[in-house]
Amino acid sequence: MQLFSSPASPFGRKVKVAAHELDLLGRIEINNASLSPIAPHEGVSAANPLGKIPCLITDEGEPLFDSRVIIEYLDSLHGGTSLFPAHGPARWRALTQQALGDGIMDAAVANRYETVLRPEDLRWPEWSQGLMLKVTRGLARLEEMADSLSSTPDIGVLTIACALGYLDFRYADRSWRSGHPKLAAWFEPFSQRPSMQATVPHA
Ligand code: BEZ
Repeated sequence: MQLFSSPASPFGRKVKVAAHELDLLGRIEINNASLSPIAPHEGVSAANPLGKIPCLITDEGEPLFDSRVIIEYLDSLHGGTSLFPAHGPARWRALTQQALGDGIMDAAVANRYETVLRPEDLRWPEWSQGLMLKVTRGLARLEEMADSLSSTPDIGVLTIACALGYLDFRYADRSWRSGHPKLAAWFEPFSQRPSMQATVPHA
């Protein structure tokens, strides 16, 4: 399998962490693709018309996107414990945690484009503030939930961990740990997992 990703992408990291936890990383060739909404990557756009990473090309040549679909696919290849609780409240909790983590990453990445890519004279501070309010509110909800966050990986907590890792990477000045002590205490051991250590984002 081939994975188009980038060392900075939190959604790409999410797929890599999942592949690592499912013991499938050895079957995936990582193709680092440098791209942005204004600088598409030809290979990625050929596989995914949305021009976005991550995108997985299966051994059968089928392009799969986005991170949610790719991880469900990888999970289906794995014979062991699933990253997706099968049913009941645990399933809906994990999927909602995934949605919250994805939403924080979406807003943080969009704001990164807004503040770094967009020419200065075209920037709209209120838009940027609105995006970061999603992050602030998301962190507040995670702090409320922190006591119930699992220490073993499932699709919910691994997404949350990748979102927090992206904030450390691109928003270190915002010091998300202050004001979120329970979340920080949960993240500390989780971030030490080999899957997280092997995928620390970089430029
Ligand atoms: C970043 O550089 O922050 C980034 C790169 C690729 C996808 C998303 C974010």
